[in-house]
Amino acid sequence: MTILFCSDSEPPGPWRLACARAFPRMAFRTWPDTGARDEIRYALVWQQPPGSLAGLPNLKAILVLGAGVDAVLSDAALPADVPVLRLVDAGLPGPMAEYALYAVLHFQRRMADYFQQQRAALWRRREEMLARQWRVGVMGLGVIGATVARRIAAQGFPVAGWSRSGKSVEGVEVHAGTAGLDPFLARSRVLVNVLPLTSQTRGILGGRTFAAMPRGGYVVNIGRGAHVVDADLIAALDSGQLAGAMLDVFEQEPLPVAHPFWRHPAIIVTPHVAAPTLASESESQVVENIRRLERGEPPLGVVDRDRGY
Ligand SMILES: NC(=O)c1ccc[n+]([C@@H]2O[C@H](COP(=O)([O-])OP(=O)(O)OC[C@H]3O[C@@H](n4cnc5c(N)ncnc54)[C@H](OP(=O)(O)O)[C@@H]3O)[C@@H](O)[C@H]2O)c1
Repeated sequence: MTILFCSDSEPPGPWRLACARAFPRMAFRTWPDTGARDEIRYALVWQQPPGSLAGLPNLKAILVLGAGVDAVLSDAALPADVPVLRLVDAGLPGPMAEYALYAVLHFQRRMADYFQQQRAALWRRREEMLARQWRVGVMGLGVIGATVARRIAAQGFPVAGWSRSGKSVEGVEVHAGTAGLDPFLARSRVLVNVLPLTSQTRGILGGRTFAAMPRGGYVVNIGRGAHVVDADLIAALDSGQLAGAMLDVFEQEPLPVAHPFWRHPAIIVTPHVAAPTLASESESQVVENIRRLERGEPPLGVVDRDRGY
């Protein structure tokens, strides 16, 4: 019985150790060194090489080493009838909420202006608004988004959230579905995106969305890069419809050196650091899922492939 590690970007070392500790009788292999393909029961994946999971006749589950599954599901050769399991929580919501709260405070306390003024040795007080006058909107109220929304609300910001189902989150005004989007946008001075990337959410941070926000708003993207229509974001910033953006994720990563985001004065770029997956936080969940499957019990974090998350 073999566990196959399959990733173009992550090192296998920590997972090899975790699997050796938890499943000493199972072999651990790293793609493309698969060994006997019919021995492979579990695949641990993150940005797997396309086609690498095809032709594994006894594969029981694909365990994604992250919360977002868009890259995994985009593989046209992904076996259709094998469950895809994602990380749920696994230490991600706390750091994501810290990043989002920092971004909101950065904009609300006019830090971008003060950084610029310092370069010109300029002592000028800017008008500031109280947290309670600064409305924040969180797109996506899942495991991560709900924590982001609660954490920002706890600092005194009026927070609304938007999701498909509109499930309630304490202390947060909730809007749901297509009908709820415009009222949600119209009240959100800062928009924080924590949606999964699906066929329905791709490009959602585009001209239509920005136009529906109050003039002079801000965008924080910690979902996926392809949520943003890059040209629309630049146009909205250049026209003054938006005043600033803090971006952690990009359609192409690393962000190409020539990309205009790097040099735009109203954009802050961070290199996909809002919440890295730490093996120390996530290995217990992966191990637990393999144990459940071995005992014939239902696993955690099953992805609905039709919904895309
Ligand atoms: N930047 C980073 O370092 C980083 C790290 C980890 C994760 N992420 C991103 O964060 C995303 C969210 O993770 P999560 O664990 O919170 O996911 P989750 O628990 O699956 O929650 C997804 C949320 O998005 C909502 N949603 C999905 N499609 C929608 C649509 N078409 N319209 C409105 N709402 C929609 C869902 O609505 P319902 O509640 O109605 O289902 C749910 O509230 C991941 O997919 C990943 O892309 C980024």
